[in-house]
Amino acid sequence: MSNRLAKRILRPAAGLVDRRIKHSPLRKDLDTLKREVADLRAQQYAFGLLFDRTGRSGHRVPTPAQIDTLVRQIAEVTGEDGGYARRNVTVAYRNVIALEALAVGRLAGSTSNVCGKLATVPLLSPPNGDVLEIGTLYGLFSATMMRMLHRAGTEARLTIVDPLVGSQLQPGAKQSAEPTGTPVRMDVVRANLALGGRSGEEARIQQGFSGDPEVRAAVSDREYGVIVVDGDHSAEGVLADLEWVEEIVAPGGIVVLDDYGDGHWPGVQEATDKHLANGTSRLEMLGRVSTSAFLRARPA
Ligand SMILES: C[S@@+](CC[C@H](N)C(=O)[O-])C[C@H]1O[C@@H](n2cnc3c(N)ncnc32)[C@H](O)[C@@H]1O
Repeated sequence: MSNRLAKRILRPAAGLVDRRIKHSPLRKDLDTLKREVADLRAQQYAFGLLFDRTGRSGHRVPTPAQIDTLVRQIAEVTGEDGGYARRNVTVAYRNVIALEALAVGRLAGSTSNVCGKLATVPLLSPPNGDVLEIGTLYGLFSATMMRMLHRAGTEARLTIVDPLVGSQLQPGAKQSAEPTGTPVRMDVVRANLALGGRSGEEARIQQGFSGDPEVRAAVSDREYGVIVVDGDHSAEGVLADLEWVEEIVAPGGIVVLDDYGDGHWPGVQEATDKHLANGTSRLEMLGRVSTSAFLRARPA
């Protein structure tokens, strides 16, 4: 049959189908569906503005599987019930979104790693409220950690060590462009710490390198219940920090090695494993959550 003939024969049937669709309930369903898809696309756009990677380390949209993994790892490392681990991860995530939205600068690291650290430390019941962060960048992680510890009943005393020279320093590493465009400076860190309550506002900030004798002398005046090692990520830098940590961590204190097992920063795991294997360390490995290792100093 030629095309013209086929069209002529089928025209009445096609017309009938058209009229049926136009007047059928299916047409209404189709129109409703189209409107709903358009609405969802508009909402998706606004969702992207809030949660995508623009101006920060990465996107903040964890999958259910990623959260489940975090909960399992936290329960293993802390020995706590999975319910508490899930509560802390959820609360940590809300804090990350809220504080990063208001921040000057950003948090460093993936959503899983940041939420993992924030959720785990309070569940490990540090022996005192003295917290030291080596390497703060914009100060926002410490601010968020102060809130998580406060929720658990500890209004911490925070000490920070960082050179704060305008940009992030990482000896030997090729730095990608800073996504925020914000300078790494004292005033910026102070603005972010103000989001961490009184512990943040009253934080002691020691400008300089963790290996500087005068920096060490200034902040080695106490035994810390929590130490976050997140400064120089080279193997030499992490080894030097761990040797110092041995001297200033409280018995039972928690030491967090950020970026342990992260392929971008092989020096962190290399140095930590080497340090723990030397047979003289006071620290023992509790385990890993995302890309952070958690150690505890043996009791006195
Ligand atoms: C990865 S960033 C810290 C991120 C921050 N802790 C967070 O979670 O958002 C590393 C910081 O350590 C600083 N730093 C580099 N070498 C250091 C050293 N020897 N002592 C202290 N800070 C150092 C860098 O300049 C940078 O500000």
